[in-house]
Amino acid sequence: MRNLIDILDLTCEELDELIALAEDIIKDPKKYAHAADGKILSALFFEPSTRTRLSFESAMHSLGGNVLSVTGAGSSSTAKGESIADTAKTVSLYSDIIAMRHPLEGSAFVAGNNATVPVINAGDGGHCHPTQTLADLLTISREKGRFDNLTVGFCGDLKYGRTVHSLISALSRYSGVKFVLISPAELAIPKYVRYEILEKSSASFFETTSLEEVIPTLDVLYMTRIQRERFFDEAEYERLKDSYVLTVEKLENAKKDLSILHPLPRVNEISVKIDSDPRACYFKQVENGKYMRMALILKLLQDAENDKTKKDEFAGKKLVVNKFRCDNPRCISSTEQELEHVFKPVDEEKQIYRCFYCEAKAKNN
Ligand code: NCD
Repeated sequence: MRNLIDILDLTCEELDELIALAEDIIKDPKKYAHAADGKILSALFFEPSTRTRLSFESAMHSLGGNVLSVTGAGSSSTAKGESIADTAKTVSLYSDIIAMRHPLEGSAFVAGNNATVPVINAGDGGHCHPTQTLADLLTISREKGRFDNLTVGFCGDLKYGRTVHSLISALSRYSGVKFVLISPAELAIPKYVRYEILEKSSASFFETTSLEEVIPTLDVLYMTRIQRERFFDEAEYERLKDSYVLTVEKLENAKKDLSILHPLPRVNEISVKIDSDPRACYFKQVENGKYMRMALILKLLQDAENDKTKKDEFAGKKLVVNKFRCDNPRCISSTEQELEHVFKPVDEEKQIYRCFYCEAKAKNN
């Protein structure tokens, strides 16, 4: 039985299979209208969501399945202090598959390791958002017909934008991809993405603060919202919130076949005048997200049918347990009762360890 916690849980071949399945669903949705008859998806959303939750729900309904939903941090027993592990064990008894969004980094991993049904990470704090990446990949595949040899610009909040982290991880496995990372210095990509993903891949990457300078070189431009809810300091948010606004004028120098993506919600990063430009793909992403979630639900339900073995996400991994403590206040290990502090070596020579749940670097090494 499998979860989807991190986009790298799926191989490139599996991504191709999911894309092919989503394309088939788009072509002939009736064929899949009873594919999940009698199955129940629990959608646990402890953070705001419009698209992700509704697309999971719509996906499950379109497969003939049923949905149970929890929305808002205050409406379930987590507000009474219940652990994620206990919540996951409980919800597994009511459902065949779980999609969960939670503000703490690593929360989906803990849910997945404790649930007895497949768990899909629908966003864990500022960490990962693999199903948005599925939507992004289907969009890029449909627009560009390939993932290799693309120049992809990521613009805005690259520090807290979990969709950015997951899409960079996914694309870093294809050859000839050039990443152009456009952000204020304060919102640059997290160190683990830089050192553990980009530097370890064959991809090239370039950082800049100027969207105008690089826009002519891009095949794909991935705009993002400045993630207000993740800032520790509201004044800092106010200072950075209008860092980038894509306007019709700025697009004049862009390629004619540029694809403009945005995971949405948009605040003001893209002028609404651009919505009618054929290069705007963000509402196509919304639609593609539903089909990829349908494909993913089918795949994970099938896997669970064929393989009933209990999940142990730590199995076979090199780990260091309780030698360090994670000091990230937004890591699940800061609140979850009796959760062991698990680190993984990422550079054995230099003795660098990162938290297994949130990727924060162990401080005293
Ligand atoms: C994103 C998210 O929740 O991370 N939204 C989404 O799921 N489509 C992006 C965002 O909130 O800015």
